[in-house]
Amino acid sequence: MLSKTMEEALNRQVNREFYSAYLYLAMSAYFESAGMKGFAQWMRIQSKEERMHGEKIYDYILARGGKIALGDIEAPRAKWTSAGKVFEEVVSHEQKVTGMIHALVDLAIREKDHASFEMLQWFVKEQVEEEASAGDVLNQINVLGDVVGHLFWLDHELGKRE
Ligand SMILES: [Fe+2]
Ligand SMILES: [Fe+2]
Repeated sequence: MLSKTMEEALNRQVNREFYSAYLYLAMSAYFESAGMKGFAQWMRIQSKEERMHGEKIYDYILARGGKIALGDIEAPRAKWTSAGKVFEEVVSHEQKVTGMIHALVDLAIREKDHASFEMLQWFVKEQVEEEASAGDVLNQINVLGDVVGHLFWLDHELGKRE
């Protein structure tokens, strides 16, 4: 059985993962409106991954006999001023999420909840990848120059993500 504290904390994380999905979907829509189809595609896939993260924790709560409590999902903003600004926000958002995952691991350790600790290790690794991939795109944008006209090649590359 999950402790109440752990159950609440995991439900909160489900909400944050779905917020991430929402945020990246808003970013995808922004790129669509800017005619940057490859960036839009990359974000769309990222959004789908975040939904999977949320569902992974959801499934885990159920598997441990916990109760699901889905809260409101905060509305993300809809506008950014450039691709670089979007990816700066992705990087800082992912860093924030990494902090949340680490706080959950700390809680699992405090509660000697080995099953949650083990489940969360997947997310610890995932966050390393997420920060790295967003950071890579941000670096490429900065190398090419953060203006739409310079980003056609990158738009094409990002569009290859499946
Ligand atoms: Fe996530
Ligand atoms: Fe993420």
